[in-house]
Amino acid sequence: MSASETTSIPGTRAQAPASPPSRLRHILSLDDFERAAERYLPKPVFAYVSGGVEDNVSREGNRAQFERWRFVPRILRGVGKRSQKTVLLGKEYDHPFGIAPIGIAALYAYRGDLVLARAAKASGIPMAMSGSSLIRMEDVAAEAPDAWFQAYVTGEGKTIREVVGRAADAGFGTLVLTVDVPASGNRENNVRAGFSTPLRPSPSLAWQGISHPGWLFGTFLKTIARHGMPHFENNYGRRGAPILSSSVLRDFSDRGNLDWRHLELIRGIWKGRLVVKGVLHPDDARRAIEHGADAIGVSNHGGRQLDHVVSPLAVLPDIVAACGEVPVIFDSGIRRGTDVLKALALGARFVMLGRPFGYAASIGGEEGVRHAIRILATEVDRDMAMLGLRDLSEISGDFLRPA
Ligand code: GLV
Repeated sequence: MSASETTSIPGTRAQAPASPPSRLRHILSLDDFERAAERYLPKPVFAYVSGGVEDNVSREGNRAQFERWRFVPRILRGVGKRSQKTVLLGKEYDHPFGIAPIGIAALYAYRGDLVLARAAKASGIPMAMSGSSLIRMEDVAAEAPDAWFQAYVTGEGKTIREVVGRAADAGFGTLVLTVDVPASGNRENNVRAGFSTPLRPSPSLAWQGISHPGWLFGTFLKTIARHGMPHFENNYGRRGAPILSSSVLRDFSDRGNLDWRHLELIRGIWKGRLVVKGVLHPDDARRAIEHGADAIGVSNHGGRQLDHVVSPLAVLPDIVAACGEVPVIFDSGIRRGTDVLKALALGARFVMLGRPFGYAASIGGEEGVRHAIRILATEVDRDMAMLGLRDLSEISGDFLRPA
C-alpha cells in the first residue's frame, strides 16, 4: 500500500466537514441520512432500501459485531499529516472505502446510479453499479469509466456471456460477481410495506406518492417525464421488466444453478479485474482465488439474503489469512469511521457501504453523496489521528482489543 504524506481531505482539521450546502447542514453523521430519507421516501421504497430479511437478525448482527472491539490508541507519533490513500486492484483511491452496489437506485434517487458514480469519481473513491438497476450500464460507464459493474448471473453460459460481454463492451474494468443469491431473500418487510418489483399501482401506492411530494415530483415523475418509465436494464444483454406495471412479471430467473464452473467460464471471458462478492468461508475464498478472483468480497449482502448468517466482521480475520496477498473488500454494517478502521485493523484492504450512500443520493443527489463521503472521510481522518496513524499501512490488529 502506498501513501503520500499529505492529507487528502480539505478542511480535515476543522471540527466539522467542509461546507455542505445549507439544506444538508443538519446531516452530521451517516445515520442522519437514514432518518432524513425515511421522511422523504414513500414507505415501500424506504422499506426496500432499509430492510433485511425475516427477523433482521443478520442486518442487526452486522452492526452489533462492531461493538465487540475497542481501540488501543498509540501516543506521540507525530500524526500532523495523515493520508488515507489506498491502493486497490492497481488503482490508488483517496479513501479506503467505496460505494457498494445498491439495487434500483434510480427509483429512490433521480438518476441514482449516475449520481453515485459522479460523486464517487469526484471524491476519488470507487463505485460499483448494481446489476439490478434502472439505468443502462453503458450510460454509467460513459460518464464514469472507472466505475465497477456488479453482475447477478444465472447458471447459464449464454446469459453469462451476454451480460459479461456487455459489461466489457461498455468499458468497465472491474466486474463484481455476487454469489450469495442462489435464492431470493425472504423480504417480508417489503411485502408488509407494499413493495414489489414491478411496483403494482394501487390506491395505497398512489397515496404514498402523494404524501411524499418531494420524491414524487423530484424523483419519480421527473424520471418518467425526462427518461420514460424505468426498466431493469442490466440483468441480461437485453432490457427487462418496467419498475411500475400491473401486468408485467419480473423475470426472477433461477440463480441456484450457478457453480464453480461458471466462475471458471467468467474468468475465461472477462479480461478485467474480477471481485467475487458474498464470501463467508475461508475455503471458498481460497477456491475463488484459485479460479482467478483478483479480490474477495467478504459480505452478507447487508443482511438481505440469509437471516442468522454469520456477520462478515466475525469471519474477516480467517478469510484474510486464507487470501494471502489477494485483497479483501469488506461490507455489511459500516456506518462510522471507527467501523472502517476496525475492518482495516482486522485485515480488510478496503470497505464498501451501500445504504448510507443510497439515502444520501435520495435526499441530496450528487451533493448529498459527496457530503456523505466527506463525513465518513473526516471521521476516518480524525480517528486516525487519535489512534496514532499517519497512513493506513500502519494499522493492524494490535490497535484492537475485544470489548
Ligand atoms: C439487491 O442487491 C438487493 O439486495 O436488493
